[in-house]
Amino acid sequence: MERVQRRVVLVTGASRGIGAEAAAQFGATGAHVVVNYREKRKRAQVVVDGIVAAGGSASVLGADVSDPAAVEGMAAELGERFGRLDTLVLNASGGLERDADPGYALRLNRDAQVRLAVSVLPLMPEGGRIVFVTSHQAHFVHEQGEVPAGYAPIALSKRAGEDALRSRIPEFRDRGVGFTVVSGDMIDGTIIVRLLERRDPGSVAARRAAGPLPTVEEFARVIVRAGTEPATLGQTFYVGGEDFLTVSAR
Ligand SMILES: NC(=O)c1ccc[n+]([C@@H]2O[C@H](COP(=O)([O-])OP(=O)(O)OC[C@H]3O[C@@H](n4cnc5c(N)ncnc54)[C@H](OP(=O)(O)O)[C@@H]3O)[C@@H](O)[C@H]2O)c1
Repeated sequence: MERVQRRVVLVTGASRGIGAEAAAQFGATGAHVVVNYREKRKRAQVVVDGIVAAGGSASVLGADVSDPAAVEGMAAELGERFGRLDTLVLNASGGLERDADPGYALRLNRDAQVRLAVSVLPLMPEGGRIVFVTSHQAHFVHEQGEVPAGYAPIALSKRAGEDALRSRIPEFRDRGVGFTVVSGDMIDGTIIVRLLERRDPGSVAARRAAGPLPTVEEFARVIVRAGTEPATLGQTFYVGGEDFLTVSAR
């Protein structure tokens, strides 16, 4: 077993985008960051190399989190290598992929998130943290209703994932493990927003009209805060989109 004195943080889906930036920012806090990816090992290695070059500590760990056997393997490897996991960031998400079958969004955005959290819970010490990353379009799907064209199954499955995780809060509490949610408006410059801009330009223009979209750096900063600072169990951190909050308060 590697004797890592630092906090051990696993960020799922950290080979690009928000997960990669969150991994880099966690690296700057002095934690050992485990950079999970599904397919793009080289990109994940670049993220790790960047953290190490900046004086931090990181390693890659590939696993398709929608595959139960791969999740089991990942939990076993974390146990063998580090003996513990201090922070789990549930960032990996999907469903808009061209080859995704109709059940994939729920399998990934709900079932896989709960399975992973439950699998690594025995490795988490008191004071450990689980952070679920979501979008306002998903978090407020039942209040706000309207989502960009084609995004409804993803929004519903991510909200179902959040609800399923929230239903596990008593288990997290019993182990002294914190659980928080970070919900963001559309995040500027991400692949998903570029994809939505092609599919449904009006929906992105409407969000831009409500105010500048948050950046990847800003969103990742709040993910790191949610994974490190004291928070109420079940607390939601919001990033951007003040008008969404108004809608939810009605
Ligand atoms: N983009 C936005 O505007 C926005 C707004 C609010 C919230 N969010 C949330 O932020 C999170 C990250 O979004 P993003 O835009 O950065 O995503 P992204 O660019 O699509 O990146 C997805 C990442 O997840 C990985 N991944 C996909 N399926 C996976 C699987 N089955 N198992 C393991 N890893 C998997 C990918 O790995 P590979 O590269 O190896 O395939 C990649 O690293 C998501 O939870 C999303 O809902 C995004």
